[in-house]
Amino acid sequence: MVAMALLPILTAPDPRLKKKSQPVKAVDGEIRQLMDDMLETMKAAPGIGLAAPQVGVLRRVIVLEIEREGTSVGPLFMANPEIIDVSDEDATYNEGCLSVPEHYADVVRPARVTVRYLDRENAQQELACEGLLATCVQHEIDHLDGVLFIDKISSLKRSMILRKLVKARKEKEREGSGDRAPAKKEIEHAPAL
Ligand code: NI
Repeated sequence: MVAMALLPILTAPDPRLKKKSQPVKAVDGEIRQLMDDMLETMKAAPGIGLAAPQVGVLRRVIVLEIEREGTSVGPLFMANPEIIDVSDEDATYNEGCLSVPEHYADVVRPARVTVRYLDRENAQQELACEGLLATCVQHEIDHLDGVLFIDKISSLKRSMILRKLVKARKEKEREGSGDRAPAKKEIEHAPAL
């Protein structure tokens, strides 16, 4: 049995978060290990969704586990997830992201989607998603295309958030806390995706 590992989570404006991730050929032992490490990293953060590029791996892999707001699902492991159907109806959710720490904004997306993916056993699955799960799946798939939720809000708000993130990182570096393990954050607001 291979031990799981916590992976460092990249934060904006890291250029790796803007890259397009490559599909996996199959869910093999290596991808399963990545999925398991991502789930552990996501839960420790804590978050409800995580995409591989957020840990610097440019492969089309996401994990989700949601236990809140009437949604109880997962853990779900998805390789090569693809939205194959969307509702006409939209929903707005105040999104956060582990790669955009401590910032939140309302994002409008289709209220329901159907996603096709390879599961942890390399079997093809289709899943109809609604509510927070639909938001989360779309948010994570965006990560695989180098898109963050702040790319879906006004450019004024986006540049304000990015400026604050750069400033916060510089302050952290000045304090010399860069190589210390990050403190476990409480969910103060919405869950981070
Ligand atoms: Ni995110």
